[in-house]
Amino acid sequence: DWTMAAYREQAIAAIRDRVGGEKVICGLSGGVDSSVAAVLIHEAIGDRLTCVFVDTGLMREGEADEVVGMFRDHYNIPLIHADESSLFLDALNGVSDPEIKRKIIGGLFVEVFEKHAHSVGGAKFLAQGTLYPDVIESVSFSGGPSVTIKSHHNVGGLPERMNMKLVEPLRELFKDEVRALGRELGLPDSFVGRHPFPGPGLAIRCPGEITPEKLSILRKADAVYIDQIRRHGLYNDIWQAFVALLPVRTVGVMGDSRTYDYACALRAVTSVDGMTADYYPFSHEFLGETATRIINEVKGINRVTYDITSKPPGTIEWE
Ligand code: XMP
Repeated sequence: DWTMAAYREQAIAAIRDRVGGEKVICGLSGGVDSSVAAVLIHEAIGDRLTCVFVDTGLMREGEADEVVGMFRDHYNIPLIHADESSLFLDALNGVSDPEIKRKIIGGLFVEVFEKHAHSVGGAKFLAQGTLYPDVIESVSFSGGPSVTIKSHHNVGGLPERMNMKLVEPLRELFKDEVRALGRELGLPDSFVGRHPFPGPGLAIRCPGEITPEKLSILRKADAVYIDQIRRHGLYNDIWQAFVALLPVRTVGVMGDSRTYDYACALRAVTSVDGMTADYYPFSHEFLGETATRIINEVKGINRVTYDITSKPPGTIEWE
């Protein structure tokens, strides 16, 4: 469409203007935003861009391979796959406060980006797929007083502690506009339509302390849930869907034995921009079938609940 074609040209000119002859590294999360930012910046400055995919150990099942594979196969953008899972998981060990988790993760991202800015021969710029709602929500909520609801690590906190300057070509856009720009740039539909995934990853879908065991249970349950949603043809009707693993064990019965395992909550919302959201009205058949599958297929979960909170008063993520 002509608006996005014009925006594309304008954004490319602005990137060239800002970056000059310098090198840029771009943190790639696997989400639509950072991917669109990367492809746009690559059009603007070519191989002076290097993408860094940081595997935090907080990714979903198969995610690292999907993202790295898709970028290697479809684009000629230099890409570093940084496996930093022990760095992140060690630092988060024993931490349960949501804001502290976010700050630790944000700080480590900066550390890893700075290391790679150095390794590519001195990148002066860090590119991020920050959107307009990220900017607003980190500052104030619904036009009200200036209260931080959550520290989105890709907005707050970064600049003062970092030697690199930011390039954020999507800062004026909403999600639907980023998707349109992604299509304009030729990104595959399957990729442009992906549900958003937050930078702090599964850490904020595992309220309380994070352990490798909990992450592994959560990954399996999430994979079953998303598979159910795809099988029922609902993926594209939903803005975002995921499982949160609850920090509580409950008693159940399986065959003729007692179980004492984790409970989980399914989350699915519709939204236009992520700023407000309604819970998705699944049928009871769908919910029942999904609960049965999760309990049968995922060792460690014996109870499934459905989160029917809209935003506000809830937020989309649990932390
Ligand atoms: P909340 O939970 O604030 O989420 O209602 C709104 C949207 O933002 C995503 N989200 C994040 N994305 N870094 C991100 O890149 C973050 O720190 C972050 N926190 C929340 C969330 O998944 C939802 O799409």
